[in-house]
Amino acid sequence: MQRIAVLTSGGDAPGMNAALRSVVRAADAAGVEVLGVRDGYRGLHRGWMEPIDARAVSGILHIGGTILGTARSHTFRSIEGRQDALKMMHEHGVEGLIVIGGDGSLKGADLLAQEGDVPVVGVPGTIDNDLTGSDFTIGFDTAVNTALEAVDRIRDTASSHHRLFFIEVMGRQAGWIATYVGIAGGATAALVPEQGVDLDALRDRVRDSFDMGKRFCLVVVAEGQPGGARAVAEEIFPADSDVELDHRVTSLGHMQRGGSPSMRDRVLGARLGDAAVQALLDDCNRIMVGEVRLELNHCPLTTAWSQESHPPSHLLGLLDRLAR
Ligand code: F6P
Repeated sequence: MQRIAVLTSGGDAPGMNAALRSVVRAADAAGVEVLGVRDGYRGLHRGWMEPIDARAVSGILHIGGTILGTARSHTFRSIEGRQDALKMMHEHGVEGLIVIGGDGSLKGADLLAQEGDVPVVGVPGTIDNDLTGSDFTIGFDTAVNTALEAVDRIRDTASSHHRLFFIEVMGRQAGWIATYVGIAGGATAALVPEQGVDLDALRDRVRDSFDMGKRFCLVVVAEGQPGGARAVAEEIFPADSDVELDHRVTSLGHMQRGGSPSMRDRVLGARLGDAAVQALLDDCNRIMVGEVRLELNHCPLTTAWSQESHPPSHLLGLLDRLAR
């Protein structure tokens, strides 16, 4: 194998640059040329790729986002779009492709590999941590720490004002971020898409907390909760409710995706980028590299994106037991 391409796709995640740097340098060490694809699949089917060498990825470990750019490409969802991408890869002499991204991106990678003759290896890069085949995905740790910093600030003001805050965090289908932020932030509850919510019980619990002398109450809500945090707040305390409980709603939004990656995300990116190059050199195809119990892992791409991973119920139980 003499030339491979690499792209980042879908929602950006802190640590994607560490993975890119690792791909480029591991390939360089093996005498393989790397083409960097601009703007994910949108760039792939348009042929936006150029050589990226070991120097070009210098000084990017600490930078959030992805220096290659990313996109959510609609064209690539069609077979025609993927055929265009294959044509472009042939024209540029690409013999293997590494895709760094989340479930939608890895699904695209899987289809591309299935329909074409260029081997594809995936690297889990998403703040959602919702892929099978890796205990953690690149970006999750940083996103949780970023959200946690905001939660700590909110707790300050909540405590001063004796208030309840509903804090919405990212995670459309999976409650990983909400669960970790909830435990680490000392929330009274974390509402996640994986579990139903008993709003009456939650209202009672919040009231009891204040009655027991708590000065603040934090309820973390995953965005996947129908209507998000605002809807939950309105359902618990409708406008005509006679409950006098001062509450506010905050959505942390895209700030969770930005910022300098944590040590964990940099190391995971470094490890998995290198493993992806090695996998291509070992003739692997349609797999995602990951880390399971600190060991490198290969998982079929189809399993990685189609079997969504969810936070274990024991963690939600822990949050519940500790929320007093
Ligand atoms: O996939 C990561 C993620 O941040 C999700 O948590 C969130 O639901 C989604 O992306 C937001 O996507 P966009 O940036 O396209 O609005």
